[in-house]
Amino acid sequence: MSVLVTNLGELTTNDPELGVVSDAAVVLDGDRVAWVGKAKGAPEADSRVDAEGRAGLPGWVDSHTHLVFAGDRTAEFGARMAGEPYTAGGIAVTVAATRAAGDDQLRAGLRKHVAEAVAQGTTCIETKTGYGLTVADEVRSARLAAEFADEVTYLGAHLVPPGADPDEYTDLAAGEMLDAVAPHVRWADVFCETGAFDEAQSRRVLKAAAARGLGLRVHGNQLGPGPGVRLAVELGAASVDHCTHLTESDVDALAGSDTVATLLPACDLSTRQPLPDARRLLDAGATIALASNCNPGSSYTSSMAFCVATAVLQMRLSVPEAIRAATLGGAQALRRTDVGILRPGARADLHLLDAPSATHLAYRPGIPLTWAVWRSGSPARPPRG
Ligand code: NIG
Repeated sequence: MSVLVTNLGELTTNDPELGVVSDAAVVLDGDRVAWVGKAKGAPEADSRVDAEGRAGLPGWVDSHTHLVFAGDRTAEFGARMAGEPYTAGGIAVTVAATRAAGDDQLRAGLRKHVAEAVAQGTTCIETKTGYGLTVADEVRSARLAAEFADEVTYLGAHLVPPGADPDEYTDLAAGEMLDAVAPHVRWADVFCETGAFDEAQSRRVLKAAAARGLGLRVHGNQLGPGPGVRLAVELGAASVDHCTHLTESDVDALAGSDTVATLLPACDLSTRQPLPDARRLLDAGATIALASNCNPGSSYTSSMAFCVATAVLQMRLSVPEAIRAATLGGAQALRRTDVGILRPGARADLHLLDAPSATHLAYRPGIPLTWAVWRSGSPARPPRG
């Protein structure tokens, strides 16, 4: 079945030839985009949606979330807002709650959070293990994540579980645990930070994952300067995420590499960190992505629109730069060419706003602007009446 979405006042495509099209239309056919262009030249389709001048864009590509979890960390958040610092140690609270939860409870959480994200325009979502930290719990997390997310990442090296020996745990995360989880995931990630894994431990896990054919991602430079960015670039990781505390040489390394700098502004706000210097990264020539980092500890939001508005209002990005980072940038961070873009052959992921232009995402911050969403061609959120 095909659908013609027409009378779009403005359509952001991210396609270098199509650019931003005014008075536009899109034809979705099954799970693919069949046609994009000026409405007056659009072909017929089985059904028709009149967007009445609204703006359209590719669905958000949220390339960094941690959605396999149970429990709540409201008290920790409250303490932080009262002045306590964020530390990696809080992860252990979610690990305990996640281990204690049944599969159906974890599934219900995944279903709820993915649905929440999709209802706000996210059409491609990555999520991670990392709140299991035993072989069985990490395998379970990966299997459950794969039921709901487009991309799944192994994050056994999220935290050394309380009481475990760091080197013995690193052996496990780079050995038996990795072997057990690898068949269920495309990516491996390490939290390379003071209080989590040091450079040598991170390198061991990442190299072991690469040797098993997994793509690499790194959590780096979140809480202070450190080796995460350098290591990610050296090992050819697809993305290094956080990038809150960067040195000049980190920026240069990213600019000269294929590693995407994934920025997580909702997390920096929620942990009272400075916002990352997106302007400096872009001006240096680095590729950036924006992602929600939805998780119960450091960033409990799935709102990509919030991240885009923050990037524009507080990180000195233009609206087109922020939208590109939250769509095509996320796709690049996941090394995908089928999402984050609207052109014939791309996945049929379309997001319509109840606004005449995408500028309203920053001009009207906090307003739920999503009007309709198609995910892989299915109307994930039908047009609002
Ligand atoms: O990306 N930094 C490490 N992992 C998560 C936080 C997880 C947590 O605090 O539960 C993050 O911010």
